[in-house]
Parts: sequence; C-alpha cells; structure tokens
Amino acid sequence: MEEKQINTLEDLDNLIERVSKAQKLYATFSGEKVDAIFKAAATAANKMRIELAQMAVDETGMGVMEDKVIKNHFASEYIYNKHKGVKTCGIIKEDKVGGVKIVAAPLGVLAGIVPTTNPTSTAIFKSLLALKTRNAIIFSPHPRAKKSTVAAAKIVLDAAVKAGAPKDIIAWIDEPTIELSSALMKHPQIHGILATGGPSMVQAAYTSGKPALGVGPGNTPAIIDETANIDMAVSSIILSKTFDNGMICASEQSVIVIDSVYEEVKKTFIKRGAYVLDKKQADALKKIILTPKGVNALIVGQPAHKIAALAGFEVPAGTKILLAEQDDYSKNNPYAYEKLSPILTMYRALSFEKATDIALALIELGGMGHTSVLYTDERKPERMDFYANKMPTGRILINTPSSQGGIGDLYNFKLEPSLTLGCGSWGGNSVSENVGVKHLLNYKTLAIRRENMLWFKVPPKIYFKRGATDLALREFEGKKRAFVVTDRFLFDSGMSAMVTDVLEEMNIDFQIFFDILPEPTLGSIEKAVDMIRTYKPDLIVALGGGSPMDAAKMMWLLYEQGDVCFEDVAMRFMDIRKRISTLPELGKKAQLVCIPTTSGTGSEVTPFTVITDEKTDTKYPLADYALTPSMAIIDANFVDHMPKSLTAAGGIDALVHALEAYVSVMATNYTNSLALEAIKQIFRYLPSAYANGADDPKAREKMHNAATIAGMAFANAFLGVCHSMAHKLGGMYHIPHGIANALLICQVIRFNADNKPTHQAAFPQYEVPEAKKRYAQIAHTLYLGDEKTSEDERVELLIEAVAKLKEDIGIPSSIKAYGIDEKTFMKNLDKLALSAFDDQCTNANPVYPMVDEIKQIYMNAFEGKY
Ligand SMILES: [Fe+2]
Repeated sequence: MEEKQINTLEDLDNLIERVSKAQKLYATFSGEKVDAIFKAAATAANKMRIELAQMAVDETGMGVMEDKVIKNHFASEYIYNKHKGVKTCGIIKEDKVGGVKIVAAPLGVLAGIVPTTNPTSTAIFKSLLALKTRNAIIFSPHPRAKKSTVAAAKIVLDAAVKAGAPKDIIAWIDEPTIELSSALMKHPQIHGILATGGPSMVQAAYTSGKPALGVGPGNTPAIIDETANIDMAVSSIILSKTFDNGMICASEQSVIVIDSVYEEVKKTFIKRGAYVLDKKQADALKKIILTPKGVNALIVGQPAHKIAALAGFEVPAGTKILLAEQDDYSKNNPYAYEKLSPILTMYRALSFEKATDIALALIELGGMGHTSVLYTDERKPERMDFYANKMPTGRILINTPSSQGGIGDLYNFKLEPSLTLGCGSWGGNSVSENVGVKHLLNYKTLAIRRENMLWFKVPPKIYFKRGATDLALREFEGKKRAFVVTDRFLFDSGMSAMVTDVLEEMNIDFQIFFDILPEPTLGSIEKAVDMIRTYKPDLIVALGGGSPMDAAKMMWLLYEQGDVCFEDVAMRFMDIRKRISTLPELGKKAQLVCIPTTSGTGSEVTPFTVITDEKTDTKYPLADYALTPSMAIIDANFVDHMPKSLTAAGGIDALVHALEAYVSVMATNYTNSLALEAIKQIFRYLPSAYANGADDPKAREKMHNAATIAGMAFANAFLGVCHSMAHKLGGMYHIPHGIANALLICQVIRFNADNKPTHQAAFPQYEVPEAKKRYAQIAHTLYLGDEKTSEDERVELLIEAVAKLKEDIGIPSSIKAYGIDEKTFMKNLDKLALSAFDDQCTNANPVYPMVDEIKQIYMNAFEGKY
C-alpha cells in the first residue's frame, strides 16, 4: 500500500482530514457522475467475490467460503440493482403543484464498523451505500478480519477512483485497536456511524454521541405451528441455519414447535440431516456454548461435527445441525442464547399462544428488535397478525429462512436488501428497518408558499320572489310526510298556512311543531325530536326567524344522526377542513327546507346553528357544511308585517354579516361580490323598510334578499371580531343579536382599519393587512367621497354612514345609551373580553386581536366613541 499506515491518533487525524476534503468535493458531484462511480465500484466488488470470500475464510477461520461468495455477490449485485435508479443527489423529488422540493444532501464522513463474521460483504455493502449517497467512509475492521476487510474496501475504492471519485473517499484503519476505533467514532469530523458488530461495538457507536445506524444482536426464534408446511419449514430452517455455518445474525437460534406436530417436525429434522442430541451430549455441549464474554468464539461459524468434537462426542458424517431439545428458555440455559453456529434449540409448546410467549421470552433475552419467524398457513392472517403485534422485532418473517430472508430481496422482494439490519429502539438503534441509502442522507424540504383550496358552498337550491313558496315546495311532489317547525306567532297568525296549504294540496301529510323558544335549548327541541323519530318525515320545513331555522337544523341533525357529541362538533377550529370532529352528510332520511320570515340571520343558507344545553348552561355553536339546508325559499310575502324592532335588528345584523365577510381573511372574489351587493342594498333600502314597513313592499323584498345574499357571503367567508364580541355582549346582557352587533360595528371598523396592526391574522391568502383598503372599497361602492378622497377619509365616511344608518333605524349610539349599567359593565369587562377573544368568529378577523384590544373596543363602544 502506498499510503502511510494508520497506527496512531495523529495518523487518524490526518486521515480524517484528507477524507473530509475528498467528501466535500464528492458532495458537489452530479447524480450522473455518482451513478457511474457506483456502478464501477459494484462491478469491481462483484468480480472479486470469490477471492474476497476465500480471504475472509482463510483469515478468520470461520464460515463457509461458498456461502461468503453468495454474501459478496449479494452485497454488490443486489445492492446495486436496488439502488441504481434511486435519486440520491440534489433535488430528488418535486411536487410543482404542492410547491415542495426535496433536496438530498450527504451526511458527511461516516465511520464503518465491520464485524469478523461478515467482513468482506459488509465492507462492500457499506462502501457502495456511501458512494451512492456522496458520503465518505472510514472503516474500522475487526482485528481478526482486518486484511480481508481492507482488501474489500480497497477494491471498491480503486474502482471508484478510476471512475472519477476523489482519491480518499473510502479509507480504513490498517491496525485497528479499541483506542483508534473509539477515537474514530468520536472524532468531530465524523458525521455518522454504520455499526455492525458485537454488542459492545454497537454500544460504543451509540455512546460516541454521533448519529449511529447500528444493529443489535439477534436471537431469532422460529415457530412452527400445526398449520405449517412442515417439510418446507424444516428444510428452510436447515438451509438458513447452516448458511455460512450459522454466522448470520438473523439466523434461527431456536425453533418452537406446537405439541400436535412436534414429533413430526422432529422426524423431519432427522430426515433432512439434523442430529438430535441425547441428554448426555446436550449437557456436554451446553458447557461450551457460552464463555463469560458471551458466545464461545471457538464454535462461531464452525461446522456441526467440529463443534460436537469440541464438546467431546462424535456425530455422523454429513450432520448439518445439532438439535437440542430443551424446556428451559430462561437466562440460565445457554441454549436459550444466540449461538452463531449450527446449534439449534427446540422447544415444545402446548398452544400457539404459549409458543409466542416462549418466542417473546427468547427475544427479550437477547434479540430485541432483530428478527422473528413464523411458519404457518398464510391464508390465516389472524396468526400472522397476532405474532406481528406481539414480537418486538424489526422483521417478522413468514415461512422464510431467516438468514437469507432477513437481508431482504431474496425471499421477499419488497424487503430492502441490506447487510445492516436496524433493531429499532428495542435494540438501542435509531432505525428498525433494513438500512439502505435513504438512511444515509439528510433531506432538505424546500417549501414554497401555497394557498390551500377554497370553496363556495350554499344550498343547492335558493328560490326567491314573492309567492315563491308555493312553486318551490311543489318540487317535493311525491314526499310522504313533512314536519313543519315554526313559532307560535306564525302558527296563530295563520302564516304557517301558506306552507301547510301547499303540502295539503300535494297530499303530503304533515305535523306542526311551534313550541320554539327564542334561544333554542336541547330540552326544548327534545319533544320535537321524539315526534320526528316516531313520525319519520321525509321533509322538514323550517318557517320563521333564526330560532326556528336553527332549531330545525338541530332536529334534522339529531334525526339523521342519533348520537352527536355536541362538545366535539362544537369545538373551536382553526380551519374548518381540519377539524377533529366532523358531521357526516345529512339528507338521507329527510330534506330540510328553510323559509325565513325575518330579514337578517341568513340561517337559511348557512352551515351554522347554535344550541344551548340548559343542563350545563353551555352554548354550542355548530359550524359544519352538513348543516346547510337542502333548499332556501326567500319569499318576501312573509316579512311585510315584521315589527320595526325586528326590521332594525335583522337589517343591521345582515349589514354586519356583509361587512365582516368582506374584510375577512377568508374573503374571496366569490363572496366579495355578494357582500358588496348586500351592503349596497341594505344602505339603500333598510331605512325605508324600517320607516314604511308594508307600505314599501319593494324595500321589504330588497332587504329580504339582501339578508340572504349576505348569508351566502358569510357562509363561506365567515365573520369577524364584531360577531365574537356581539355574541358575548348579547349573551351577558340579553341584548338582541343584531343590536349587539350594531353597538360594536363602528368601533370594530376603526380597529380593523389599521395597516400595521399589533398582530396580522395568519392565513396564506391574506398577504398583507388590507382591511383599511377593503373598507375604503366599500365606501367607494356606496359613492361616499369622490376621486380625490383618500383611503383614510373613505374609512371615516363609512363609519359615519354606518352610524347614521343606525340612527335612522332607532339603534342607540352606545352600550351605555342602550341602558347597561356602567359599574356592572366594568366589573364584567375582563371576562367579557376574554370570552369574545375565544369566540369562533375571531379567527377570520383581518386583525388577530389581543384581549386588551377587545377590551378597549368594548370600552369605546360603551361610551359610543368611534
Ligand atoms: Fe349575525
């Protein structure tokens, strides 16, 4: 060798320095160049498979040359084949639509720990993985296998360099000592450790403080159950157990046989070349299996007859394995441990469950995380699943010889080919899979800002114009039973007949429920739900203001979905699509038609409802598109005679819906057009609808439509902090919902119209704080100001216009003027502000409000300052 031998710590430092340089250069190589190097290296290793196998056997005195050829062959051909098309350099994955790129980067310089049991194949395997991932690797061979390990590494290195790799990309310690290998692993310029070796070596790797991919020891149990193909099972175990004289860490150490087939299995073992030890022989062998340091190195990788001779007895020529029948699977029995030789322990189990208990005990004794095997009828998945759940092993192999099966790609082509089998946390390893190129890369995720899909959801049918009720309901021709939900006033005044007469004409049987409270409670709708469940309607008609419609939505939900946990469904969400609890689609039993008789809530087109549980005094606001009615009928004939107070409260509520929807972070072009149209109509027609009532039927009709149009906007763009605050203010002081909104809206506009708010709301679509701009757009739509009017001035004009509108429809100018006592108000203010902050509507507000800011808005609104 031309290079200086690595004998001292100083040599090691210099070596690592050189390798680091090489790796930094190699990290800049393209995928194409790397693939060419990977191929050249794999080819060279494959060509030398026989020479290297011979060297390993000669040097270590262990194993079978012909089997080591297979391992070298596997380490070059299978590893190349598996990874040849895999992208490992630079951008390896790209999702243009999703805006994500994955960039692969090497770890750096690796330390490779190589065992004496598989020196050449492990060195080939690790070198190839390192080359494919643009890592460098420095080997620390086992002292008893150093020559063959170094020879294998050098073959790979020479071929790689010839193909263009930097000259120090693979290196090794020539004269390994514990000191040098420990210094290697702990060296600051080492970035990862690939540790294969005995438990103490693996432990050293993990205590080095470096990310280590290691293997734990195995103690593989194989169960043969009564449904298994016994001849295949026995042959597979013998094949595996004799491979390289039992040195593969995944190989079977014990076989556990179900009682009913035990004798047959034993006979088959004998037939296929196993030698069953008698008691005396078994006792003699037992004494030489272990030494105080672990498995006796003298038996590792030795043929059966040689081991028997060591124990002082002879076995017939051609004996493949020594089979010891044992009962004791505790730590006191050497036969219960990993033997790394053709000694196989056999246990009898009275049941499958008992067999799995024994297998688990053996794994816990020495094979945590490694491999377990089951021979069974694969058509019965219960056994396999039970076993897989119970065994704490990274590989659970079915009907498979574990030496060949565990390393993957031979007996199952989906199991990654590898000579480093991760044992997971059970074995103190960082991976539980077969180690491959994916474990030797860092992945950088390049994530480009993206906006999530938005939506527009409203009832499939919305009918309007005076008298629409008749024609619209006729679409339900053929329905059998209708359940009409309304309130006592509408029933007593005969207005509900405008619905029931049509149902009668259509021969639809109906029941009417009119016991609806202004704030529906679970208790108050219970009776109706009972009636519905008995009556089994295929149509539910809600006729009334917000309360009957909200109650009907709830009845619909409880009718279609018997057991709803309101607490879960009402849970506050950040994104309606990502909620923890959602409702299933409704409408399987009945359709829901909503006919509003007030102009305000928009409930006929929204997915929202509120229900109070009077037992716990909890209000559950539910928001789920499943609650969107099947049909809405906007028939102004129902609203001509609305009292003034309802006209004012409903009208201003609708205005606030549209204002909040327009500045919401969820606002879209789809909802904006609706919000602006509603705002325009409300400013134009609300004063007359209020002043003239039935005498201005046009204003009535325009307002009725405007409320629904605003409803469609906020059904999709949602609301804001004005509603959050109105919900809590109204709840605490029994102020009608619309009025509560009216008392706060001017102050909220002022608060939101801020180009540098304390906290901007976080939502990808909401790029910059622009509530001020949007309010100015509203003012523009209302012809407030002229071309020269500034944005700030427009906001002022809008606030003035809203204040004027409130005045025109008889709404007090402040919370104080409404009649709330100042002392009481101030006393409750903290609580009020905090609960408003936590209201669902706060989420969509263009400014994420601080609790103190909400408090200030309340105080301003109390005084009527804006
Ligand atoms: Fe509202």
